[in-house]
Amino acid sequence: MSQVVLITGASTGFGRACATYLQSRGYQVFGTSRRAPEEPTQDADGGFTLVRMDVDDDDSVQRAVELVRQRAGRIDAVVNNAGTHIAGALEDNTLEEVKAQFETNVFGVVRVCKAVLPIMRAQQSGTIINISSIAGVVGIPFETFYSATKFALEGMSEALRIEVAPFGVRVVLIEPGDSPTGHVWRRAAASLENPLYRERCERCLQVMSKDEENGFPPEKLARAIERILSTRKPRLRYVVAPAYEALVVILKRLLPGSVVEWGVRKYYKV
Ligand SMILES: NC(=O)c1ccc[n+]([C@@H]2O[C@H](COP(=O)([O-])OP(=O)(O)OC[C@H]3O[C@@H](n4cnc5c(N)ncnc54)[C@H](OP(=O)(O)O)[C@@H]3O)[C@@H](O)[C@H]2O)c1
Repeated sequence: MSQVVLITGASTGFGRACATYLQSRGYQVFGTSRRAPEEPTQDADGGFTLVRMDVDDDDSVQRAVELVRQRAGRIDAVVNNAGTHIAGALEDNTLEEVKAQFETNVFGVVRVCKAVLPIMRAQQSGTIINISSIAGVVGIPFETFYSATKFALEGMSEALRIEVAPFGVRVVLIEPGDSPTGHVWRRAAASLENPLYRERCERCLQVMSKDEENGFPPEKLARAIERILSTRKPRLRYVVAPAYEALVVILKRLLPGSVVEWGVRKYYKV
């Protein structure tokens, strides 16, 4: 029997690459998008089932999860991938922008976990894979709230893993490095104008854009997820990144904080 996998944010980027790859490898994949038709449809190119879901909305998440349960009879794995990305200085991000970032990247994951956990507990099995980021390990300037949401996801997943282990549910974090998924950064409008931060923010974002252009292909993440799903006892954390970015994660855990901070300032030219 093929494993049933639900992937949030499967219209583009990592989510789409993962949904397409896993479907081609024999998994029964349900991929979500806010823009999917009301009735589930087969994605023309990816072959997976496209389901409408807005992770910011309780009812939308409940409806989509229930639909998958009814159609497939079970949910073996969830990949919490849907996410947004805002950039800019803390002083320039409005509270509405900050709340919206947390709504999708953190509370969206909470909503999906709450909806799938009763199903997984009843099955006595399931895997929840939360897509974090290297920005969830190292605080990146001018990506302050993106980093904050991914740090939140790291702590939540670490704790949740222990809470749900007795029910046979496994919780895994993936920390991807940069990838040219074409995702769009919403930039705090005020940072374009604010002379206090504009130049350093600009330099920092240029480094980030270049890193994304030279990043790893999204299919590498899809293959990593397949390996995790076929592992009996997956680790809590997996880094999927170009070698130099993976090294940053190791150094962050080994070096004194002052050295890491110096390295981040130098690297991002801020
Ligand atoms: N690309 C990178 O370099 C990179 C690096 C590290 C981590 N990540 C993480 O990887 C994940 C995917 O990123 P990506 O680069 O593939 O981005 P992307 O191409 O912009 O895709 C984001 C996906 O999230 C969905 N989405 C956004 N808001 C949503 C909401 N409220 N409800 C439901 N779905 C929503 C979008 O679907 P619809 O708009 O169709 O609803 C879209 O499919 C994110 O969590 C991101 O933080 C990316």
